[in-house]
Amino acid sequence: MNKNTAVFESEEFREMLSAARDMNEPPQQDGSLRQAWFINRARELVSEKEQELGRKLTSCVVTFGCQMNERDSEKLRGILKLAGYEESETEDADFVLYNTCTVRENANVRVYGRLGSLSAQRRKNPGMIIALCGCMMQEKDVVERIRTDYRYVRLVFGTHNLHRFAELLVASLMSESPVIDVVDKDDSIVENLPAERTYSFKSGVNIMFGCNNFCSYCIVPYVRGREKSREPKEIVREIEQLADDGVVEVMLLGQNVNSYGKGLENPMSFAGLLQEIEKIDKIQRIRFMTSHPKDLSDDLIEVMAHSKKICRHLHLPVQSGSSRLLKIMNRHYTKESYLDLVDRLRKAMPDLSLTTDIIVGFPGETEEDFLETMDIVRRVEYDSAFTFIYSRRTGTPAASMEDQVSEEVIRDRFDRLLKEVQRLGRQKSSRFEGQVMPVLVEERNRQLVDHMTGRTAHNLVVHFPGDDDLIGRIVDVRLNEARGFYYMGERV
Ligand code: 5AD
Ligand code: SF4
Repeated sequence: MNKNTAVFESEEFREMLSAARDMNEPPQQDGSLRQAWFINRARELVSEKEQELGRKLTSCVVTFGCQMNERDSEKLRGILKLAGYEESETEDADFVLYNTCTVRENANVRVYGRLGSLSAQRRKNPGMIIALCGCMMQEKDVVERIRTDYRYVRLVFGTHNLHRFAELLVASLMSESPVIDVVDKDDSIVENLPAERTYSFKSGVNIMFGCNNFCSYCIVPYVRGREKSREPKEIVREIEQLADDGVVEVMLLGQNVNSYGKGLENPMSFAGLLQEIEKIDKIQRIRFMTSHPKDLSDDLIEVMAHSKKICRHLHLPVQSGSSRLLKIMNRHYTKESYLDLVDRLRKAMPDLSLTTDIIVGFPGETEEDFLETMDIVRRVEYDSAFTFIYSRRTGTPAASMEDQVSEEVIRDRFDRLLKEVQRLGRQKSSRFEGQVMPVLVEERNRQLVDHMTGRTAHNLVVHFPGDDDLIGRIVDVRLNEARGFYYMGERV
């Protein structure tokens, strides 16, 4: 992996850090200047501890879940780095933070399991701070369980106050007892916070937070709150700064990017935002996720079809092929309208790659419903699909529905579906065999000697002979051989 070891902070934030250096002055009430003050304070505390111990302090942030969490973790790492921590790849660090996910139950189970093993680490290093944040912490019973059964956890915060991490870090460094700060709602968006990017040449960019859809199986609207869009000018400014720092590809992130801009003072559509981003010179590729089928506009199709930079790949979660279940899932589209949308997309962009999410075993799913899902999968021909076993999430409408499907039936359906999506995906994603395509080179291949790995605009992975100096560049590669979900190629 091409680790970018420098933290990226904007010019504005650098100025704030130096403006907020005087610890005799109280911190500002709010905003990024306040966070800058706390980063400076954390740096003092970390440096005192370093002198005490005679060594550097280390930190490790572990991410569970989606790309939003990945991006949040980059911001958390940026702050830890500015506070003076050295990054550690392993969890035997002085500050270990789990950024959690709760979309399915097994994500929670994994966190509890790993927390158990961390307690052994802590015995070796009593000064160690174990911290938890993210979606799982927005659930009251989780926080209660942490409070009572995992008393060695020293800091807990949620999704709504992540932008106040610097001050929570200071609180945990100063306090003997656990700091637990989870709020149900906080509408402020703090701009300009620093981030430590995993890749120097590509970056996620949040364009909105939260979700208003309340799909009946989904816990996200309860833990991430209501939908809120960032101001277009803030987004454009962030991307311009990223571009100046070497980023050529951005992934615009939101739970439902197609409804971007609704609550803004001067409303702007997602298609409009894309056109603004397209104008930023040094940005060569634009991706986005996730698209809700019900909000995908003709304008967006038009803008995508005419764009030179927007990648020809759309992640379009279908969840089920049964119109009956889609209604109960509260998805606001039918099998027919979804297929019609796919037709319109493919008419405008015949080479478009489509990927999706599918849930198997939603309450009341019959064999007929399931066969509708198998049918839509065959008709759409996805490049790939994420298949999930329905997970009952307390508090969602689906959790109290009757007719929960038995585990055995779900397993059988899941296996049949997986086989089919893999067979079709292999077929579909090999359609570019023999063609030459621009590939963004991402990293050195870990298994194949002298090979690099990159991605086409369609999000297909290609391995080809090359050197490290190609990392971050877009080069032409002939896709010689399709091998299932990836290609072997050569530079031309
Ligand atoms: N059970 C299984 N899968 C779920 N997803 C969301 N909630 C659940 C749940 N309760 C899946 C959906 C969504 C993806 C991010 O996670 O398919 O698109
Ligand atoms: Fe969950 Fe539906 Fe919102 Fe996606 S759109 S985050 S599935 S509620």
